[in-house]
Amino acid sequence: MIRIGVMDEGGIEQQMDHLLGIDATLGTDAWTGREFRLDLPEKFRHSRWALDEAGVPVGFAVVSRKGESVHVHRLVVEPARRREKIGRTLLRAVAESARASGLERMTLKVSSANEAAIRFYEALGFEREKMENENLVLGIAVVMLLGADHPAGPG
Ligand SMILES: CC(C)(COP(=O)(O)OP(=O)(O)OC[C@H]1O[C@@H](n2cnc3c(N)ncnc32)[C@H](O)[C@@H]1OP(=O)(O)O)[C@@H](O)C(=O)NCCC(=O)NCCS
Repeated sequence: MIRIGVMDEGGIEQQMDHLLGIDATLGTDAWTGREFRLDLPEKFRHSRWALDEAGVPVGFAVVSRKGESVHVHRLVVEPARRREKIGRTLLRAVAESARASGLERMTLKVSSANEAAIRFYEALGFEREKMENENLVLGIAVVMLLGADHPAGPG
C-alpha cells in the first residue's frame, strides 16, 4: 500500500538520502540537497511524496506556486515502482492541495525528448502550451485533473 504525504521541510531532511537516491535514478542533472531544501512559494504546502509500507519514499512531486498556477518542478517515481499509478496519484494529491488554495492550473516543463513522460502527462489530460528551447510546456486545469477521477461527472 502506498500512502501519500505532505513533503514538508522536516520530512525532507529526514528522508534526504532516499530522495537523493530516487532522483539519482534520472541519471542526468541530479538534484542535490540544495534543490530539495530550496524555499519556493507554497512549496512545502503543495509538494507530496508517496511512501511505501515501511514509510520510505518511492516517488515525489516537488511543486510551487507560480501566480494562479501550481508548477511541477520535479516528479519522479522509483523505476521499480513505475506503472502502478503512483505518478498519477501524486499529481492528483497536488491538485487537491492546489484547489484548496484556489489555484486553477497545473503547469510543468518537460524535455521534448522525454517521450514516456509526455505520454504520461497526456494520458492525464495535460495539453501542450508552447515550446521553450528544447522543452515542452504542458498545462491542465486543476479541476480537469481531479475530475478524471470521476469520469461520469458529479452525481
Ligand atoms: C513519468 C513518471 C513520473 C510516471 O509515473 P508512473 O507512476 O510510472 O505513472 P502512472 O503509473 O501513474 O501512469 C499513469 C498512466 O500514464 C501513462 N504512462 C505512464 N508511463 C508511461 C510510459 N512510460 N509510456 C507510456 N505511457 C505511460 C499510462 O497511460 C499510464 O496508465 P497505464 O499504466 O494504465 O497504461 C515516471 O515514469 C518517472 O518517474 N519517470 C522519470 C522521471 C520523469 O521523466 N519525470 C517527468 C519529467 S518532468
